Amino acid sequence: MAVRLNHTIVAARDRDAAAIFLTEILGLPAPAILGPFAVVHVGSEISLDFVQSDGEIVPQHYAFLVSEMEFDEIFARIRERRLPYWADPRRRERDHMNAWDDGRGVYFDDPSGHLLEILTRPYGSGGTTASRPHPLIAATLHKQSPVRTDGPEKTGGGALAAEEATALERARDE
Ligand SMILES: [Fe+2]
Repeated sequence: MAVRLNHTIVAARDRDAAAIFLTEILGLPAPAILGPFAVVHVGSEISLDFVQSDGEIVPQHYAFLVSEMEFDEIFARIRERRLPYWADPRRRERDHMNAWDDGRGVYFDDPSGHLLEILTRPYGSGGTTASRPHPLIAATLHKQSPVRTDGPEKTGGGALAAEEATALERARDE
């Protein structure tokens, strides 16, 4: 049985503005109206169906895997619009992108406060051989690896612990 995610509903303060924002930023076809929804196709089968919400909107996180060329184009639009962007999901490293898994990634807000992300490599795809492993996979490996008695880690325990703590902090917020 092949189960495939087909759509999910995204609450928006302004349904049409939010849907148009996403299509313009990502370079996608214009939204289609389907009953109460403004439907944005983000893949060959998957759609984000925006719906108007007048109540409290609980921020969600949506991450889009893009090619290097698409990243360049989308990031250029983010900068053209002077949108705030961050390298991390906690919005601490403003005006920076990350290089996790030796790819590129950046976070930014949608008009309703949802946290959007574009990335060129899936989390963990660089494994441990990447020059910049994803912090989540790095944390797991640090916990499971035996303590080295030689090499640079011998005197770097404090730095490793701090790095792991940071990664786990981030993981809780992902
Ligand atoms: Fe993410």
